Amino acid sequence: MSDTRRARPRRKRPGGNQSARASVPAAEGATFSGNIILCGFMGCGKTSVGKRVAKLLNRRFCDLDKYIEQQTGMTVAEIFAKEGEESFRARESQAVEEVAAEKGLVIASGGGTVLARKNVDAFHRYGGKILFLDVPVAALQERLKNDKRRPLLQRPDRREFIASLWEKRCPLYREAADIVIDAGAPAVVVAKRIRELFQ
Ligand code: S3P
Repeated sequence: MSDTRRARPRRKRPGGNQSARASVPAAEGATFSGNIILCGFMGCGKTSVGKRVAKLLNRRFCDLDKYIEQQTGMTVAEIFAKEGEESFRARESQAVEEVAAEKGLVIASGGGTVLARKNVDAFHRYGGKILFLDVPVAALQERLKNDKRRPLLQRPDRREFIASLWEKRCPLYREAADIVIDAGAPAVVVAKRIRELFQ
């Protein structure tokens, strides 16, 4: 299946979890002014795809991790090292509250952002659409094999860790998402798929 608009058998809930077509009806696509939020596992392309989508749709781009770094004056790695993951998650939720209230952004969330229900709710409260960039785990393992920046990945069993974390997180990304995007392709291709949904 290579089409962005594939429908998946998914549990429906009000305002979400439907196929791409159903989530952004043609009439709404072009006029949709809420935020477009990209979610998914580390390395799935949230930032690289997001920057391109913002350009294509003439929107502002916001990288949530960068936003947190600007607000705190620390890198994500420094926050993890100095304050621990729990503190990072609190800062992340604070950042979500702030950016979710904006209009017309393309937001690259962090890999753990939508695992917290309150963050998903905040994005939806302001009318945002959450897109899950679905990339096969083998591709993620390959993309992340030399990563030196992400605190969660600095461990000797990285490959296995990615596989088990991906297993746990995938259902939650799907649950959070309004739209699932087949995102194993190069960023430029994925970005064009997303543009089609909002034009
Ligand atoms: C995290 C992903 C990172 C960053 C932090 C935690 C995660 O963002 O928010 O290191 O829990 O998956 P990216 O997905 O942009 O790497």
